[in-house]
Amino acid sequence: MPPLIELKNAGITFSTGSGFGRKKQRIQALTNVNLSIGTGEIIAVVGESGCGKTTMGKLVVGIHKPTEGQVLYSGRDIWSLKGRDYDEYRMAVQMVHQDSYAALNPNKTIFQSLSLPLMQHHIVKNEAGALEKLSGLLLDVGLTPPEIFLEKYPHQLSGGQRQRILLARALSMTPKLIVADEPVSMVDVSMRISLLSLMARMKEKYQVSFLYITHDLGTARYIAAQGRIVVMYLGRMIETNSIGQAIAHPMHPYFHALISAVPEANPKLRSEYAMQLPLRSLDMPNLLNLPSGCKFNPRCPYCKEICTQQEPQPRPLNGGLVACHLAEEILAQRESENKAATLS
Ligand SMILES: Nc1ncnc2c1ncn2[C@@H]1O[C@H](COP(=O)(O)OP(=O)(O)O)[C@@H](O)[C@H]1O
Ligand code: SF4
Ligand SMILES: [Mg+2]
Repeated sequence: MPPLIELKNAGITFSTGSGFGRKKQRIQALTNVNLSIGTGEIIAVVGESGCGKTTMGKLVVGIHKPTEGQVLYSGRDIWSLKGRDYDEYRMAVQMVHQDSYAALNPNKTIFQSLSLPLMQHHIVKNEAGALEKLSGLLLDVGLTPPEIFLEKYPHQLSGGQRQRILLARALSMTPKLIVADEPVSMVDVSMRISLLSLMARMKEKYQVSFLYITHDLGTARYIAAQGRIVVMYLGRMIETNSIGQAIAHPMHPYFHALISAVPEANPKLRSEYAMQLPLRSLDMPNLLNLPSGCKFNPRCPYCKEICTQQEPQPRPLNGGLVACHLAEEILAQRESENKAATLS
């Protein structure tokens, strides 16, 4: 059985507009990404702002077309799907956007916005059917009484309530995969945990896979506790593993630095002096002017000559994948430093 979704050597280069004295520029936002998403799986995609997370999400839901490689749904290129097959994919793969206000039509009530796709896709026959279906979904996502919320306009709801509406809209298509792009980053901190646990409950109830995109390791660990993590850096996948293994034993120096910068990501490792990884530079290189070889080399404290000459590709290690020439050497060095620290 082919995976639900597969990115195969997928990449995307954006051409930015010229004019007003500006030159046309090409931004390689995503490079050579290989990723399979299975049924019922939960994958957290993490990385700093601008590393290509949203672009990856938009490739998966077919908003962007890859300029290199392919996006496959059940083994078939999504850009070759037609008719019913295309409709099936469009319904099966849904996105919950970061900005819930922009994602909803401000001039329509929630009922008007959410009932339209239900009728267009013949999931319900008429408005009465839509009302019944949406009432059930709103109860599921904790918006009660549903009829009050269905009558409201987006601006009359809080950010957390709008995200619940977006989740209900995605679920109304009976999806197999939900791409959730930073769904809690614009929501009050106090509401984040309840939204995350709601998504976890919906995943169980509807057996839906999740691609959870975030810059925040804490929420990634919370939502994908049983899942995998994909770490991105400048449009590349640099590490992937089960989330427990990845956080306990990060392989790539960038991911190690990311974890040691977030106290709650791994409190145990925080106490080990060797987990602090001082970087050579705090500046992220520009996508328009990337270094040769490993894109992390200007910041990496372990950098050797090979790192400036060849770009490392993800390769298997410790049950996951890592894109670092010296990963084994670095892990061995860290282990002996940790032992020495424990003995002293
Ligand atoms: N439609 C677009 N046109 C041109 N550049 C884009 C477009 N979308 C994203 N980018 C660029 O691609 C890079 C990755 O963006 P994005 O995927 O939004 O990152 P993230 O979600 O990780 O913050 C950024 O440099 C961004 O400016
Ligand atoms: S390949 Fe070299 S520069 Fe890149 S992360 Fe590994 S050690 Fe650092
Ligand atoms: Mg983004």
